[in-house]
Amino acid sequence: MKNIFLSFLLAGFLIPGLTLSQNKIADVQVKENFWYKNSVIYNLEIGVFKDSDGDGRGDFNGLIQKLDYLKMLGIDAIWLAPFQPSPGEDDGYDVADFYGVDEKLGSSGDFVEFMHQAQKRGIRVIMDLVINHTSDQHPWFLNSRETKTSKFRDWYIWSKDRPKDAEIGMVFPGVQKEVWTIDNKTNEYYYHRFYNFQPDLNFSNPEVVQESQRIIGYWLNQGIAGFRLDAVPFIIEVPKTGSEKPKLDYDFLTDIRQFAQSRKSDAAILGEANVDPEENQNYFGKNGEGIQMMFNFYANQYLFYALATGDLKPFKTAIEQTKKIPEASQWAHFLRNHDEIDLGRLTDKQRDGVYKKFGPDKNMQLYDRGIRRRLAPMLGNNRNHIELAYSLLYSLPGSPVIRYGEELGMGDDLSLKERISVRTPMQWTDEKNAGFTSADTAIRPVINQGDYGFQKLNVAAQTRDQSSLLNWNARMIRLRKSSPEIGLGTYTVLDVSSPDVLAIRYEYNGQFLIIVHNFSDQPKSASVPSGKARILYDLMPEPKDMKPDGGTFNVSLAGYGYRWYRVDQIIP
Ligand code: NOJ
Repeated sequence: MKNIFLSFLLAGFLIPGLTLSQNKIADVQVKENFWYKNSVIYNLEIGVFKDSDGDGRGDFNGLIQKLDYLKMLGIDAIWLAPFQPSPGEDDGYDVADFYGVDEKLGSSGDFVEFMHQAQKRGIRVIMDLVINHTSDQHPWFLNSRETKTSKFRDWYIWSKDRPKDAEIGMVFPGVQKEVWTIDNKTNEYYYHRFYNFQPDLNFSNPEVVQESQRIIGYWLNQGIAGFRLDAVPFIIEVPKTGSEKPKLDYDFLTDIRQFAQSRKSDAAILGEANVDPEENQNYFGKNGEGIQMMFNFYANQYLFYALATGDLKPFKTAIEQTKKIPEASQWAHFLRNHDEIDLGRLTDKQRDGVYKKFGPDKNMQLYDRGIRRRLAPMLGNNRNHIELAYSLLYSLPGSPVIRYGEELGMGDDLSLKERISVRTPMQWTDEKNAGFTSADTAIRPVINQGDYGFQKLNVAAQTRDQSSLLNWNARMIRLRKSSPEIGLGTYTVLDVSSPDVLAIRYEYNGQFLIIVHNFSDQPKSASVPSGKARILYDLMPEPKDMKPDGGTFNVSLAGYGYRWYRVDQIIP
């Protein structure tokens, strides 16, 4: 343990267990070293991004060709969906070899070349770390089910009898029937939170913990900057403590974070856990000694409720509830990801409100809790509404995560099963198969009709059009990156005179921003507190600077309008 602490010191990083102000070596500069606190992250799946060899499937070499595009967009880090060898029954989230590269996506050499090319452009690479379970084709599981005495038997969770709660705690209700499945080889049941081809690893076995550290060490050594840790609440479940309310081992999180940082001092872990704000504290750790980043699933659900209904109140409350986090920790915000939008925390009435607006057909809904659509179709392709949503994403306190294709306003394909609807190939040009592949058939159908069809909606067309959503996003990302107050500072939700307007004030290092958003489709005015500000410099096109009067200013916003202001000359 001491050695690990020493390496933190030498690296000039925060020592877990101490807050920023307690830490002698920590100052503002150190905080700015936490790259993950102020990075724009772009999530993509290699297999549907760009095909370089004409086999119909995207690959690492194709991705290399598109790095300059991502650089143009202004992203800081790429989050790669699983790319390790896998039978692909859950789109790669069923890993069959943690140390390899799926040959369908390229060779290990291609991977290294990609890492080099990304690094050359100053782009960090985060990868999915899917260690809660393996594929049932993983050699560990094949061995584990061979005999009850096999070397790997205890790497998985087995039960002689069918546990009483076998039908409780499924992550994919409606598709998945149970969390324990009988294995006909040894006639015992194995545990799986997800599909039955994804047996859970047993993290109470020290060998499994050690192996997970090896995996982390391996990829960090290959240049990876951090991990998106899949299914965190299930990794830390203490086996057989019940699938409804299992005991959780949060220390595991501190351990892997420390391990990761002992190998690479600025390695970061971004956790996927849809838990309430209080529970989230356990993931960050009381003093930030847990994993550094968490997706803010909690606020996300209320954000969708606000976008669908215009009722802002629960969202405001959610941003307040998720405010108190350790200084070294950070939220990741997102609008769409590769899964369904999870609305499980809303009341039935609230959820119905969102369904009604954004996913009225049964086929648009999934797992009794969410919507399997992309953002643009949900918002009726209303450009003003889409801009409002993205302006919000870029200004929510945390780091924004964008899903590939969202920068163009890509659509979905509801004829594809479950979550595959939002995983169609990237639309590059108006040529055959959207310029994604030269093959006649792409691994997944390209969206080829209507407003979202590649003929109309593609990168090439939007690159040339200054007013396109793509160019708007690139400008907004540039603005976000010149606004360190958002990622690094503190924030206050302001009391404004209109219930439709959200105003947040950010402060960092003597710099201030006030950003306002109108959630109504109608024009709204609001009086917004401005503290001691003398001038608010409007950062939007066609700027209209504000001179507050008596500690407030009046803002008039178009329907779904938004404005970013830099507050100058605050008199202390
Ligand atoms: C969460 C991932 O986001 C999802 O796509 C996957 O199916 C499950 N974890 C299982 O790994």
